[in-house]
Amino acid sequence: MGAREWDASTYDAVAAPMTTRGVDAVARLELRGDETVLDAGCGTGQVTATLLERLPRGRVIALDASERMLEVARKRLGGAAGRVSFVRADLEEPLGLESPVDAIVSTSTFHWVRDHDALFRHLAEALRPGGQLVVDCGGAGNVASILRILEDLGETDHPWTYATPEETSARLAAAGFTTFETWRSERPTPLPPEELEQYLATVVLGTHIARLGPEAGAQLARDVAARMDEPLIDYVRLNVDARR
Ligand SMILES: C[S@@+](CC[C@H](N)C(=O)[O-])C[C@H]1O[C@@H](n2cnc3c(N)ncnc32)[C@H](O)[C@@H]1O
Repeated sequence: MGAREWDASTYDAVAAPMTTRGVDAVARLELRGDETVLDAGCGTGQVTATLLERLPRGRVIALDASERMLEVARKRLGGAAGRVSFVRADLEEPLGLESPVDAIVSTSTFHWVRDHDALFRHLAEALRPGGQLVVDCGGAGNVASILRILEDLGETDHPWTYATPEETSARLAAAGFTTFETWRSERPTPLPPEELEQYLATVVLGTHIARLGPEAGAQLARDVAARMDEPLIDYVRLNVDARR
């Protein structure tokens, strides 16, 4: 599995910006309440919990590549036993679900997946005909000021795919989605100054730090935080509402 592990307990403590956007994405799902919905990249399950609230007679499949993220999600959602199942899988591979789901939601995840052609193919295979796909992820232009700082620091090897709405529409069509809307939105997000370094290390620079090692990685997070004009992440989102 190519995807990396995450510091799940720290992520869970600083996840408010991702949870806020995730709750907005879940609200876009058109649900009766008895469907089976896949949360693709569930993380620690904060967004999955709001998805479960919209499915009083339905089920959720919480999928993630990180065992540590799944561990925290299991603890959070364990009370919904019978209505939630957990799958460890890499979205770059076929998902291998037992049967197609009624809908898929994914928040703050797809920009961590390199091969978006394969990603949308696997999602289409996992979705029943007519099923809905709702996505929030980093899009073209995301965290541009952080990218400039990383470049100044000589860090040019990044894990992210920041796709445009147009590229994503073409991928959705190729994967067999019949209707789709894709759009970009700006979500600049201020952070408490004392949380900035930890937030950068945990949420934004985790892959860089895994490559550099703990000491050089912590130094990178410090250097990036020190060079930012203000404690504000210039998030630019790629949004998708589609049907297979
Ligand atoms: C920023 S977290 C978002 C978690 C959650 N959706 C939220 O909004 O809080 C990104 C998640 O994507 C997962 N992820 C990244 N690449 C993945 C892949 N290729 N396959 C499955 N999950 C992946 C990570 O393990 C992590 O849990």
